[in-house]
Amino acid sequence: MTPASFYIETYGCQMNKLDGHLVADRLRAMGLAAAPEADQAELILYVTCSVRRHAEERVYSNVGKLQARKRRQPGLVIGILGCMAEKDREEIFRRLPHVDFICGPGQLDRIEELVRGAGAHRAALGAPRINSSMGILPMSPTGVPPVEEEENQGQDAPGTHGRDARATVIDDHLEPFEEGRLTPVGEHPLHAYVRVMRGCDNFCAYCVVPFVRGPQASRPPAAVLAEVRRLVAAGVRHVTLLGQSIGSYQREEAGRVWRLDDLVRAAAREAGLVRLDFVTTHPKDLDSAVSAALAAGPPVAPYLHVPAQSGSDKILQAMNRGYTAEEYRERVARARAAVADLAVASDFIVGFPGETDQDFEQTLELVREMEYSQLFAFKYSERPGTAAAKLKDDVPEDIKKSRLKILLDAHAVVAAARNRRLIGRTLACLVTGAGKKPHLDAVVYPSPLGEGGPSGPGEGLRPITTPSPEDVIQLSSRSPGNQIVFFRGPRRLIGSLVPVRIVRTSALTLFGEIR
Ligand code: 5AD
Ligand code: SF4
Repeated sequence: MTPASFYIETYGCQMNKLDGHLVADRLRAMGLAAAPEADQAELILYVTCSVRRHAEERVYSNVGKLQARKRRQPGLVIGILGCMAEKDREEIFRRLPHVDFICGPGQLDRIEELVRGAGAHRAALGAPRINSSMGILPMSPTGVPPVEEEENQGQDAPGTHGRDARATVIDDHLEPFEEGRLTPVGEHPLHAYVRVMRGCDNFCAYCVVPFVRGPQASRPPAAVLAEVRRLVAAGVRHVTLLGQSIGSYQREEAGRVWRLDDLVRAAAREAGLVRLDFVTTHPKDLDSAVSAALAAGPPVAPYLHVPAQSGSDKILQAMNRGYTAEEYRERVARARAAVADLAVASDFIVGFPGETDQDFEQTLELVREMEYSQLFAFKYSERPGTAAAKLKDDVPEDIKKSRLKILLDAHAVVAAARNRRLIGRTLACLVTGAGKKPHLDAVVYPSPLGEGGPSGPGEGLRPITTPSPEDVIQLSSRSPGNQIVFFRGPRRLIGSLVPVRIVRTSALTLFGEIR
């Protein structure tokens, strides 16, 4: 019997979030209902992440806790999706014997078959699990899914740069899964992610992604553009194009080769789209397709997520990143010179094998100098099978921890200074919904209902009303550089682009008033 309700728990990056939502759409199409909590669901799916060990341990721990419930409720179906499902099939079945099926990111189009199969087998056989003998899971030894139709399939050994040569790999078997999308999914109700590429060929020494998500493959431009159109028609105003190394996007269609800038320009023409951005850019691509894409102007946002990972040339080389700190600086400087008010975000890893105090000092210098709008920093986590796993993980945990804190603190100082410089500036902000920090409002307008108005406290007790579009509330919005900006204004502004003058700032948030 197929389960009637489902609950999905997602770990990790935006790619995973999107996968989780696409799976949810597929399950809805099968007639399953979304349960508000895991304990009310007959099917529980985990979309897992393998980028750091910690995320994997959380899954083992959380799924482990379901063992007793599965004994009580044998009809419960548990599935493991995402990167761990690709990387650790044997270990998952060994450590979590109550899991019914696992399904890597390259096989999500078969989720329906897995869910139905799990039900049928359990009913007949008493909860056996679906395993590789059913043909669901065979993969190459690197975990790369078989690709049916392609060019340049040669898989470089980890640690080599097979870069642009393989940007043309074609693997469209997931297109129907992608096209089954029913709901916009993103960071707020007006935002949606659209995948433009799958996989990665960069083989950064620390990273497991190329092993679990397979070789880089670009989606057909027509499919991406059709998805953007459908989302905008459904009310989405901000689209983020997604790819692990999006500057390498390349796809031939109808005799024409499309690069990222072609795709971005075409998507930007969609009437009703007020903001378009893309993540993540590898620094190697900054000078070419990425700057051309940013130069397209509105609705393309002046936002660039370009991870540096380290400020030390020695560490960058050991990481197989393919650039020096100086080259990174120069490329970002050129992008900033070309795009007014470019907000630059970055990722860093602290405690990579061999990272000395001097190396870390160079990372700190880079962070102080770059004035990133956002910084994502992580302690190095050794990933089996990667090139870096052959190196000794020699930076002690307490040093990694203290470097992480020092780095985040240094960034908070520069981010606060950067934000202060925005005071007095007017930014075109996309209003995304009601604000969640009304107690921190910089400017308080009397409410049209008289709250705190001339009649004084007590007299004007607020009548119970349904929200009117004219209600003045705290609104939450996003600046062009994707920073959160709170301001007060009528509810009807939700969904529009509004000029907001910044009047107060903190390290993370901006407060303003309508111009
Ligand atoms: N350990 C720590 N952080 C990692 N990242 C990727 N692999 C690892 C790892 N093994 C970080 C990088 C990347 C971000 C998504 O995760 O900074 O940009
Ligand atoms: Fe991992 Fe490097 Fe690819 Fe990013 S570019 S997904 S860090 S291998």
